[in-house]
Amino acid sequence: MAELHYIRQAGQLLGVRREQGARVSRPNFMKEHWNKVYSGKPNGHKFRQFSVKELSGILAYFPKAQVAFDLGCGQGKLMKQLKSRDIDAYGVDFSEEAKKQSVVPDKTKISDLNSFVPPFKVDIFFLKFVIAFIRNKNLLRRLKPFIKKNGGIVILTPIGIGLKCCIKEKRLKEMCNGFIIEKEEVWYKDKEKNRKLVLLILRKK
Ligand SMILES: C[S@@+](CC[C@H](N)C(=O)[O-])C[C@H]1O[C@@H](n2cnc3c(N)ncnc32)[C@H](O)[C@@H]1O
Repeated sequence: MAELHYIRQAGQLLGVRREQGARVSRPNFMKEHWNKVYSGKPNGHKFRQFSVKELSGILAYFPKAQVAFDLGCGQGKLMKQLKSRDIDAYGVDFSEEAKKQSVVPDKTKISDLNSFVPPFKVDIFFLKFVIAFIRNKNLLRRLKPFIKKNGGIVILTPIGIGLKCCIKEKRLKEMCNGFIIEKEEVWYKDKEKNRKLVLLILRKK
């Protein structure tokens, strides 16, 4: 029962429909967990997607962007959205099931972000609902040499404590060390539980 309650709360922050969240049996958040999350879902797992307006607002920070990498890309929906904006988008995820269900499987590489090294430079790295699950604190710094001039990193994440989908504010700021935080915007706030959904745009110093 406590587990179901947990999934419901996580669902609010990730924008997942309750009944889908409730199907998860054990929130271990490892690769096997994510494979179970995606398994047998041809119509997709409904994590909150960027609206047309939200994505336009983000891309306004990168007017010349041509190539992007979506880290923890899941079923590739953001890659498809980016393609419709003439941005060549690639993705990485460690879940083979996510790739099987992907709308752009040919653009999806299977790899663990804890050790992932990008194969080329891009204008934008996206980390949407994934940074809280990454153990390696150096991920963002490792990406730095692969960010093109005027490029950056876009992060959408729940911040708070008590849920695995949330990153602690202190840890997030540590991971962002070495970058300029050009934008930090709260998109949703749960005052009672002291959790929030935040968009960050980072630039190289
Ligand atoms: C909450 S889902 C978000 C998916 C997608 N970004 C979206 O917003 O629709 C988190 C995704 O990150 C992936 N993921 C979690 N930890 C990962 C890791 N260490 N390496 C690669 N992918 C990971 C999961 O497989 C899952 O697809």
